[in-house]
Amino acid sequence: MSNYLDDISSERNPLLQEMEQFAKEKNIPIMELNGIDTMLHFMKIGNVKSICEIGTAIGYSALRMVSALPGSTICTIERDLERYELARKYISRSNNAKQISIIFGDALEDEDKVAKSAPFDALFIDAAKGQYQRFFEIYEKYVVPGGIIFTDNVLFKGLLEEKIEVIESKRTRQLVTKIARFNDWLIKNENYETVIIPTGDGLAVSIKK
Ligand SMILES: C[S@@+](CC[C@H](N)C(=O)[O-])C[C@H]1O[C@@H](n2cnc3c(N)ncnc32)[C@H](O)[C@@H]1O
Repeated sequence: MSNYLDDISSERNPLLQEMEQFAKEKNIPIMELNGIDTMLHFMKIGNVKSICEIGTAIGYSALRMVSALPGSTICTIERDLERYELARKYISRSNNAKQISIIFGDALEDEDKVAKSAPFDALFIDAAKGQYQRFFEIYEKYVVPGGIIFTDNVLFKGLLEEKIEVIESKRTRQLVTKIARFNDWLIKNENYETVIIPTGDGLAVSIKK
């Protein structure tokens, strides 16, 4: 199903296609096509204009968001210097460069740098999977009531449906356990209405009450 949805996904401009190719060649994780299409759709319905992104990588999702949402602004943070510099280069080649501010830093430590661009209509969490709850708890206060928090990879390659004992790698088992705990915490969080959508690698969409 996913391959088919990727094939019929909305058209991307040559810069975005180049970034997709680069990410594939260098094994840099960027959001899956049908996952990002779903997220952009929710952002359009929610009339999202200001976004905070945790985990820029090379700037692909940031560029997809500003291209899809006219007049929007994004504050995005990345802790890997090489990826941060690549993101800056790619973003500078886009017509939407002025809409994006990239911060080089660790989202767990540099909250104050991100907070300068708050408040946000949406928060997009797409960084270290083992830290999702911490990212959520640090940045949720900067999201307006009625705003949306998106968390990617919450179904982690379908592994949440597997029996934990059959997963060979210890590290993967630990990650699956952490994501399962996060999903459970999120679904039960009474300050949000959350739905988990099996699109891309699994997308949690949480509306702030
Ligand atoms: C899945 S990639 C982001 C992909 C990007 N959102 C996209 O779809 O184009 C995750 C990125 O988060 C970064 N990251 C992980 N933990 C972080 C942290 N604590 N602070 C900032 N960036 C972090 C990683 O270096 C990595 O580049």
